[in-house]
Amino acid sequence: MKHLLTTNTLSLEEVRTILEDAQAFSEGAVWKPEKQTFVANLFFEPSTRTKCSFEVAERKLGLEVVPFEVNASSVLKGETLYDTIRTLQSVGVEAVVIRHSIDSYFAELEEQIQIPILNAGDGCGHHPTQSLLDLLTIQQEFGRFYGLKVAIIGDIRHSRVARSNANVLKRLGAEIVFSGPKEWFDDSLLEHGRYEEIEQAIVTSDVVMLLRIQHERHEQEGQEGKAVYHQKFGLTLEREQRMKAGSIIMHPAPVNRDVEIADSLVECERSRIFKQMENGVYVRMAVLKRALQQGGKANVNDHQKWS
Ligand code: CP
Repeated sequence: MKHLLTTNTLSLEEVRTILEDAQAFSEGAVWKPEKQTFVANLFFEPSTRTKCSFEVAERKLGLEVVPFEVNASSVLKGETLYDTIRTLQSVGVEAVVIRHSIDSYFAELEEQIQIPILNAGDGCGHHPTQSLLDLLTIQQEFGRFYGLKVAIIGDIRHSRVARSNANVLKRLGAEIVFSGPKEWFDDSLLEHGRYEEIEQAIVTSDVVMLLRIQHERHEQEGQEGKAVYHQKFGLTLEREQRMKAGSIIMHPAPVNRDVEIADSLVECERSRIFKQMENGVYVRMAVLKRALQQGGKANVNDHQKWS
C-alpha cells in the first residue's frame, strides 16, 4: 500500500520521482486515471493551503472529490477514525487525505486500511507534502540540494515541517542548522543538524526557512511579546540585508507578519513563500498520482494516460 505518511519512509529515488512528476505537472503535463475515481479530504485541524491545494490538485487530475466536513460527519457521534476511513473505503473512495492533531494518528491504520492514506499533517509529527513542495522550490532555485546550507528557524519543537524537512534534506546532502529560542529546540533533531545562533545562521545560509509560532500547541504562552520575538529571532529588515547573495526566504505559512518575518519581506525579491504555495498543487498532483497508480484501484495505464 502506497501510503504517504512521513518523508523518513520515502527513499531518495521515490523523492526524486515525485519531484520530477511535480515539475512535469508545473510545465503542463497531464495524467488522469482511466476510470471514475473518488477521493476524500478529512481535515480534523484547520487548514487553508494544504486543504485547498489538495482539492485543486484532485480536480486537475479529474478526480471526484467527496465532500467531507468533520463537523457534519458521524465523527460527532463518536465514530472512530478507523471506522470513518473504513466506511469511505466501503463506499468506493480510493484515497484519503488526512490532517489530524494526534501525532502518528496513522500508526494503527496503515496495516488495516486498504486505500492509500496521504498525511496532510499529524500534530507535531510530520507534514510530508509540505516538505516535498519545499524541496521542489529549492530544486527550482538551486538545481541541487548537496552542499546547500538550510537554516530552520523558530518554533522547532512543535513543527512537523522542521521534522519532515530536516530528515530528507540531510539525506539529500544539505547542511542543516536550527535556530530560534533554545527552549523551543528539540534535541532529537541533533541527528540531522546543529543549533546555531541566529546572526550566524542568517548570514551563512542559502535557504532561510522560518517557522510559524504554533500558539495552539503551546501549553503556556511565553512571557515575551511578539515585538520582542521579532527582534530576537525574526527576519527583520536589518537581518535580511545581511543575508548571503542569492539566498532565499521560505516559510510554510500561515505567516505571523512582523513576528517571524517583517511584513514588507513576505513578498520581497528573496521570498519564495507564495511560490511554495503554487508548488504545493503540483507536488500534491504527483503524490496523488503515485498513490493511485501504485496503491489504489485506479487501474491506470501509465503510457496511455500521460500526454
Ligand atoms: N503550510 C500549511 O500547512 O498551511 P495550512 O495549515 O494552511 O494548510
